[in-house]
Amino acid sequence: MRIGILNGGGDCAGLNAVTRAVVKRAEAYGWEVLGIKYGWDGFFRSDATMPLTFRDVHDIINLGGTILKSSRTNPAKRPNGLEAVLDRSKEMGVDALVAVGGDDTLGVAFELYKRGLKVVGVPKTMDNDLPGTDFTFGFDSAVNEAMHAIDNLKTTAESHDRVFVIEVMGREAGWIAAYSGIAAGANLTIVPEERIDVEKVVSFVKARHERGEKATIIVVSEGAALKELREADHGKVDEFGHMKLGGIGEFLGNEIEKRTDYETRVVVLGHMIRGGSPSAFDRVLSTRFGLSAVDLIKEGKFGMMVSLRGDKIVSVSLEEAASGPRLLDPDILAVMDMISY
Ligand code: F6P
Repeated sequence: MRIGILNGGGDCAGLNAVTRAVVKRAEAYGWEVLGIKYGWDGFFRSDATMPLTFRDVHDIINLGGTILKSSRTNPAKRPNGLEAVLDRSKEMGVDALVAVGGDDTLGVAFELYKRGLKVVGVPKTMDNDLPGTDFTFGFDSAVNEAMHAIDNLKTTAESHDRVFVIEVMGREAGWIAAYSGIAAGANLTIVPEERIDVEKVVSFVKARHERGEKATIIVVSEGAALKELREADHGKVDEFGHMKLGGIGEFLGNEIEKRTDYETRVVVLGHMIRGGSPSAFDRVLSTRFGLSAVDLIKEGKFGMMVSLRGDKIVSVSLEEAASGPRLLDPDILAVMDMISY
């Protein structure tokens, strides 16, 4: 028995820990593992396979990024692309596949499952916006990185009586902004789930200033951009139809400075918080996910994804995983609003 493993979409911390656990568990069953590099693009390249033994991967649990590399390739966008993946997986001798990714990658996995591929999923995204699981790996590491960066920016903001607008990733949902904003004690956090009212943001900053709080920290999700701003700035979309985001931090910073005259700085944390070593939480979660994904194959539960529910690893259908995005929990939104100061 030979199982394949691939990573699709944006990378995040914990991908290597999943690979490591998949190989360990597969070897326990006496199976071989074939790494397929560059996500779904690996099925269209001749240089993309790497046999993996635990000897190769035992020491990568702390390593950020992915040794398997990744891409945002969507085979469904190529002529007969899904059929080509099925044919190529046969040529590779892959009996079952572990697809590690977010809703795009898992959506493709579901389409392939419907066409006969024996595939299971592992939920990955730093954005934490995937349905069917309480948490994805990569999120906790990104939040911790963002929290430390915001802690640092607070000290310089205080020293200079400045407003800082800090933009973080989060395309459809504000999980990263909300968790890092709450954890770092941001004054205001703005997420895609709530409409931005620039006037309200400016009044908030002014009110703080007037009561003597001259430094203000605002955390904003990249996806919180006003619709007009998004469409004016970026026309390009990737193979899954996603627009390149960014620009809301700059826009808000300019508006605040223009309307208040308070010195304002903008910092875009972007990929800085996506890269780097995984947190302990993500290393453990990725390991549990990787081991359980191989167990799904052993049990013949194809078309399913491993998932975290409470503190247990369970499984849900790939269809559910691909039905995203999962927006911010209203309880967290409420905490964010209640703690804003
Ligand atoms: O993987 C999701 C994500 O992290 C989004 O939050 C962000 O918009 C996007 O990736 C950035 O992607 P890229 O690495 O292609 O610039």
